[in-house]
Amino acid sequence: MIYSGKAVSVTLHDGGIAELKFDLQGESVNKFNQETVVDLGKAVDAIKGNSDVKGVVVTSGKSVFIVGADITEFTDMFKLPEDEIAGWCLKSNQVFCAFEDLPVPTVCAINGIALGGGLEMALACDFRVMSETAQVGLPEVKLGLFPGFGGTVRMPRLIGVDNAVEWIAAAGQHKADKALKDGVVDAVVAGDKLFDAAIALIKQCLEGKIDHMKKRSEKLEPLKLPPLENMMAFQTSGAFVAQQAGKNYPAPVAAVNVMQQHGGMKRDQALEAEAKGFAKVAKTPQATALVGLFLADQAVKKANGGHIKKGAKDLNQAAVLGAGIMGGGIAYQSASKGTPIIMKDIADAALDLGMGEASKLLAKQVQRKRIDPAKMGKTLSMIRPTLNYGDFANVDVVVEAVVENEKIKQSVLAETEGKLKDGAVLASNTSTISITRLATALKKPENFAGMHFFNPVHMMPLVEIIRGEKTSDETVATLVAYATKMGKNPIVVNDCPGFLVNRVLFPYFGGFGMLMRDGADFQAVDKVMEKFGWPMGPAYLMDVVGIDTGVHAAKVMADGFPDRMKHDFKDVSEVLFENKRYGQKTKAGFYQYVLDKKGKQVKTPDATTWELIKPHVAETREFDADEIIARLMIPLCTETVRCLEDNIVGSAAEADMAMIYGIGFPPFRGGPIRHIESIGIKEFVALCDKYAHLGKLYEAPQLLKDMAASGKSFFA
Ligand SMILES: NC(=O)c1ccc[n+]([C@@H]2O[C@H](COP(=O)([O-])OP(=O)(O)OC[C@H]3O[C@@H](n4cnc5c(N)ncnc54)[C@H](O)[C@@H]3O)[C@@H](O)[C@H]2O)c1
Repeated sequence: MIYSGKAVSVTLHDGGIAELKFDLQGESVNKFNQETVVDLGKAVDAIKGNSDVKGVVVTSGKSVFIVGADITEFTDMFKLPEDEIAGWCLKSNQVFCAFEDLPVPTVCAINGIALGGGLEMALACDFRVMSETAQVGLPEVKLGLFPGFGGTVRMPRLIGVDNAVEWIAAAGQHKADKALKDGVVDAVVAGDKLFDAAIALIKQCLEGKIDHMKKRSEKLEPLKLPPLENMMAFQTSGAFVAQQAGKNYPAPVAAVNVMQQHGGMKRDQALEAEAKGFAKVAKTPQATALVGLFLADQAVKKANGGHIKKGAKDLNQAAVLGAGIMGGGIAYQSASKGTPIIMKDIADAALDLGMGEASKLLAKQVQRKRIDPAKMGKTLSMIRPTLNYGDFANVDVVVEAVVENEKIKQSVLAETEGKLKDGAVLASNTSTISITRLATALKKPENFAGMHFFNPVHMMPLVEIIRGEKTSDETVATLVAYATKMGKNPIVVNDCPGFLVNRVLFPYFGGFGMLMRDGADFQAVDKVMEKFGWPMGPAYLMDVVGIDTGVHAAKVMADGFPDRMKHDFKDVSEVLFENKRYGQKTKAGFYQYVLDKKGKQVKTPDATTWELIKPHVAETREFDADEIIARLMIPLCTETVRCLEDNIVGSAAEADMAMIYGIGFPPFRGGPIRHIESIGIKEFVALCDKYAHLGKLYEAPQLLKDMAASGKSFFA
């Protein structure tokens, strides 16, 4: 052994071939934390100081190669001033360059996933050999960043501008065939032949059959194309990238710009430009939010792992009650992810409809070549439509998705409970009825909880798991495990009107209603909120949710939280509801909907809406964008804080992720709590005070006031 550190070791094999192995102690994967970079530097020094070394093979002691930089270190680092962040990049790059400049040939053996810094390490080698099953990519722009360990410098010099722009700006994770085709790796072999293949390559270099210095020099020199052609290549791809990314995501464009900027420079100077550019994107609010989002996602997964550990039961057979919009969707999702499901309804026609929907979804996947017809047949055979409780004694978990009526639900749940084996878990997909109240109809309320899917089930990533007063940990564990198995992101919340997501969404609609009352134009409001980053503005969203559903849920929320959610004026959605304009489902709501050639609903303005609502609102006037945003976002954000205050949700990370997964909160803003923090808690409280005259909906919660006073963060 030439060197042995906590993350890197170097062993000398026969023929003077050194194996530099990444194997971070105490971790299941390799990642580039600061300690690993320092360790790599020491390993390189050890190789340099040993004249017996004739070549270096870089390997991994884990099943992955290196998953990337240690993102948990980013939060603190990105708080540093820009020049210190750039300094950190340059210092790390000195280590990569010292490795690249070793006087012997170097080959990377990529055995598993090599992402971000992992692939950048591989790029610092002269050659890369990749296992057939490994995957590589530079996903940094997904975090609002771009590669900062030399990726923007080495990639275009190795694979050309167009390919490099695609790899960096689209942030894909690629399989071996694509990596080989684009020239990111030099050979692809079976996993068990990887090490030998890397050694063979080194030997060919040593025998003079391959000129590794020529290959290396490509990475050290400016880009090969003449300046004008380079400029053209960058400008064309830059414009495309800008259009794809949209103005809310500046990192991909910044990556293209920095590659253009240093295209004419030699390596070391180019790395300086990359470091400066990296420090700039690291300081953007988008990077803060997207890095935060990544960490929040990890936190949610960890929390869910904790729930599952508390006793998830085996899940071999599921059942769903109701074959409607939601029941059909749940059956499809369960079957397509491998859990067989019985779908029970009281009407034959509903069962046909449910099966028809599942077939349609599967046929689409066959058409897109995501699955083959055999898989479609197998999935369909895993959904068993029925009108009776025949096989319910074998069922491990049942999701009730019948009509939204408390009495009917209670009687259906009680009836079902009687058919189940001991210990089976029962859940309701209700969106507005108290789980604790529904549980009063049951003999074993501990085996019952809420399992709130969103529509359309196959598309929406969130499932709220709602713990009623008597729900047991095992029941929560089983439902978290089931939702995870279905490919969804479960978030566990406590019971209250609207649970978490609707409790937070309806104050936003409340703010919208007040804005309309005061004379706003809903089309203008939609435009402002879409520009802010929402997939659709509030009026359009109401139309999609269904104005009848919205008005019903708003009433439940008003009963639950009358101090801030009850209003003393006629809300425009109530006016539309009374006129049977329920939104997309009736082809008219705020907007009217016509089918285009492909059968898709197209939204168009409708003069009738104004005629109907005019008597109930103030004369139309213009509101500036800041006011519209504040009047909608304050109620949503403060209600999220109240949910933390009331222990409805366990952490700011879970609250933020729920809003992103559940209602499409703009991801680059990181969620409601992250949004408050990006404004500044003190500043946000001041904003609440500015609009306090509008009523309790705008009052800052005590927790927020306390945090403003103490200077604490939700994410500390
Ligand atoms: N549609 C949504 O956007 C949405 C979103 C989240 C949650 N939910 C909730 O999901 C539930 C179902 O909503 P939906 O939109 O699918 O309704 P739906 O009207 O489309 O379907 C309800 C189905 O239940 C069946 N049914 C009625 N009584 C039954 C019984 N005793 N046993 C078995 N089946 C019975 C009906 O025949 C019908 O097929 C409701 O509680 C609703 O609040 C709906």
